This record gives sequence, C-alpha cells and structure tokens, in this order.
Amino acid sequence: MKPVRAAATLATVALLYGGALVIAADDAVYGGPPALPPGQSPPLPKPGPLAAPRPAQQAGLPAALMASVIPPTSPLTPAAVALGQKLFFEPRLSGDGTVACASCHDPARAFTDGRPQSIGIGGKVGQRNAPTVLNAMFNKTQFWDGRVNTLEQQAALPITNAFEMGAANLAAAVAKIAGDADYQVLFRQAYGRDVNERDMLRAIATYERTLASFDAPFDRFIAGDKSAVSDSAKRGWELFNTKARCNLCHALSKTERDTTLFTDNKFHNIGIGVIHHRVVPLAEQAEHELAQGHLNGIDQAAIESEMSVLGRFLITHRDDDVASFKTPGLRNVLLTAPYFHDGSQATLWDVADHYNHGDGVNDPWLSDRMQPLAMTEPELDDLVAFLASLTSAPYKEQGEREYARQLALSKVSRPQRDTRRAFGPKPVQPPRPKF
Ligand code: HEC
Ligand code: HEC
Repeated sequence: MKPVRAAATLATVALLYGGALVIAADDAVYGGPPALPPGQSPPLPKPGPLAAPRPAQQAGLPAALMASVIPPTSPLTPAAVALGQKLFFEPRLSGDGTVACASCHDPARAFTDGRPQSIGIGGKVGQRNAPTVLNAMFNKTQFWDGRVNTLEQQAALPITNAFEMGAANLAAAVAKIAGDADYQVLFRQAYGRDVNERDMLRAIATYERTLASFDAPFDRFIAGDKSAVSDSAKRGWELFNTKARCNLCHALSKTERDTTLFTDNKFHNIGIGVIHHRVVPLAEQAEHELAQGHLNGIDQAAIESEMSVLGRFLITHRDDDVASFKTPGLRNVLLTAPYFHDGSQATLWDVADHYNHGDGVNDPWLSDRMQPLAMTEPELDDLVAFLASLTSAPYKEQGEREYARQLALSKVSRPQRDTRRAFGPKPVQPPRPKF
C-alpha cells in the first residue's frame, strides 16, 4: 500500500502538530510546541507539579536496581535534591542567561521538548532529539551514542555546548551563581561547602535520580490486575516478545521477558537517517578529526555537525558501530514524540511501520536483527496500544490526548508504511564500503 498522500495532509499535519492542540496550562501540553522565531532560545518552562521528585513506592519500580544506581557518596538528601532541581531550571548557567536544562527537558512533556531536534541558545538547532530524563538514572550510558556513563558527566556537556547552553566553560557557569545568596545557602546545606563545579553537577544528577517513573497501567497488569490494560495492549505485549521481535533489543535478557526498562543497554543500527548522508566521507572525517576520548570534540560533532549520523562510531571508530545508536528505554514513550535520535518519525505508528518494513535496503551497516515483520494493520495498532500502556500515572491525561493526536495524525499520514516490503522477503544487504 502506498503512503496516504491526500491533499489535505499537510494542512492537517500542521493543525495537529503545529501547536493548534497545545493547551495553555503548564501540565497539559500535547503535540509539538509552536515554532520559534529565528535566533530565539526556547521558552523556559516553570517547575510545576510534574517537576517534583517521584515517590519511592510505585507499581513496577525495581527497588533493588534503584538502590544500586544511587552512589553512596551522593544520597538523595532533601537539600541536594532541592538544589539540583533549582539548578535544572537555572538559565544563568547558560552563556546568555536564557537556557536551562528544563528548556529542552520540560517536565510537562515528560522531560523532552517535543521538537524533532532540540533548539538551544540563540535558536541554534542541534542534530539530535532530546531523550527524556525520566529513568535516565538507569541508563548504563548517557546520550544516544553513550559517550559518557554517569549523569554527572552528562550534565557538564550541555552547559558548555555552543548549540545548547553555550557557557564559555563550567567555571563561567559556576561564577554566574556563586555570588547568589540563595545558592550559597543551598550548597552549604547540601554539601557543607561553597558553590563549586563538582557539587553543582552532583546536585543536578541527584535531582535526576529522583525521577524514577513507573506506575503505568502495564505495571498494574503485570502485578495481576488483568483489567489494567486493554485487550489490544495485551496482544501488543505478546507481539512485542514474539512476531514483532522488539524484545531482541528492547529487553535486558534473551530468555526472560523484560518488564522493567525495555532496553538491552546496547547499540544497534536500525536504519535511521543513514541513507540520507554520505557516510564514508563522514567516517573518514571523524577518524581524522576526533581523537578517541576527546569528549568535548565528540560532543560538538554529535550535536553540531553532520558527523552526528555516525552515532556510536564517533566514540569507538569501529566499523560495526557506524550509525548505531543506543536502544532507548520505552517507558513514557507515547509522550516523547517525535521519535528516534533525529526526531524523524512523528508517531508510534510511523515507528511501527519502520520496523514492519525492516528498512535497510540501502544501509550496509544495518543490524542483522532487522527484517520485514509481515505485521497486519490491527497488529500494528496492538503494538502501539502496548507502548501507550507504559505511560506513568502522573501523565495519564497527557497520554490520552497524545494517543488521540497520534491516532488522528496516523489516519492522514503514514509516510513509513510500505506493506509490500513488510510482507516481502528480507532484502540482500549491500556490501560495506571500506574506509
Ligand atoms: C538545547 C537543548 C538541551 C539542553 C539545554 C539540555 N539538553 Fe539534555 N539532551 C538534549 C539532547 C538533544 C540530548 C541527546 C544528545 C545526544 O544524544 O547526542 C540530551 C541528552 C540528555 C541526557 C541523556 C539521556 C539519555 O537517555 O541518554 C540527559 C540525562 C540530559 N540530556 C540531561 C540534561 C541536563 C541535566 C541538562 C542541563 C545541565 C540538559 N540535559 C540540557 C537536549 C538538551
Ligand atoms: C535491532 C535492535 C532493535 C529492535 C529489533 C527494535 N528496536 Fe526499537 N530501537 C532500537 C534502537 C537502537 C533505537 C534508537 C535508534 C535511533 O534513534 O537511531 C530504537 C528506538 C525505538 C523507539 C523510539 C524511542 C524514542 O524515544 O525515540 C521506539 C518507540 C522503539 N524503538 C520501539 C520498538 C518496537 C515497537 C520494536 C519492535 C517492533 C523495536 N523497537 C525493535 C533498537 C531496536
């Protein structure tokens, strides 16, 4: 079947995605945010109720795992968490005082920005889609390419990245708040010391470690409440672990069903974006320009340059890692549209269509786990219903509206739908070029 291309499509997409459905209240935003005038930083959200630390008791929350990811040297003390939350919303950490972490990780949007690629200081558009910070504490590595391991290391990079917060260096960011009497008190209360760089990063990470987000209908279903999710979501969960092959990557174990985070913490090339780029010259450029381990250079390449498409290769320089990206966890995924590292897909139906046709006709580095799935339209709907059942309780209403928005959009636009390929044989993979 051909993708639907009605004349009305663009207008409808603009209506659905261009902000027409955005509700004014802080905790009720859906769809993409309104476009920004050129040169302007994104608006800074206020810390509403959805910014608050999450309860320690939640259906589905893996208590032992949670305890294991909190470093004994950085306990979740109320003082450190309060400091970290304030810093997360602090635009003074940026070069021109306009951008904070929350500018791209808005609690009302499940800590994402709803844009395909994030916009930072002075309206600069980066190459990548903002992942959620919810449950980021459980990531074995941070960023789509896993270029750092800890949340502390992660927090340092956007502050100085020229497309994100654009501070000259971390010392300059610290200097902006060091004279502030509130911060002096908060740093003393949290760590018994004056304002300093290390504790600043530590406090931000500590706040992020309060953002465990479980308690979804799926968790109540797994706990035994058979009516917590729809029959369609139940069928989707079965498909996820069988015919749809999602569990090959979105599960920690090969043998047991993963009900926790839905990631293997590994990197795979699933065919996103790669065919639009001249990969070989980019890989050669990366090998020349990016010394392995030079973190700021890699960060710059990932956010600011076309080399971004190389993914994990930027860090390892391994042929196998070309255009490989981290398998993201799937909790709250309904709320984190648009999808993939480049924000290239608008809805979960587009994501499902992508997997269904298997992609990779032109991608020599495609994971051998990718293949056409021969899923029918009702099966694709079931898969989406399952993904929607991973929405945490505080976002229930957003989830319902976002589901309706994506469903409406999917009725007029399915650009990835390619039924012939989905039911066809696995294409022969082209040979890998040498570089
Ligand atoms: C201009 C938008 C922007 C700002 C400001 C920003 N981020 Fe991000 N954030 C992103 C994007 C885009 C990525 C993915 C980049 C990549 O993978 O290369 C990201 C990735 C992350 C991740 C990794 C999540 C994962 O699943 O791998 C965390 C955690 C995070 N940001 C927290 C923060 C914190 C803390 C701050 C403030 C110190 C911050 N961000 C500032 C856009 C932003
Ligand atoms: C070969 C491993 C692999 C398989 C199989 C796989 N995924 Fe993924 N998934 C990934 C990787 C890697 C990404 C990130 C890719 C990128 O952005 O370039 C991803 C991204 C996603 C995203 C986007 C998340 C976001 O925050 O943007 C969704 C949703 C998703 N997968 C769902 C599924 C479903 C549903 C299936 C089964 C039909 C599936 N995946 C099968 C590895 C896999």
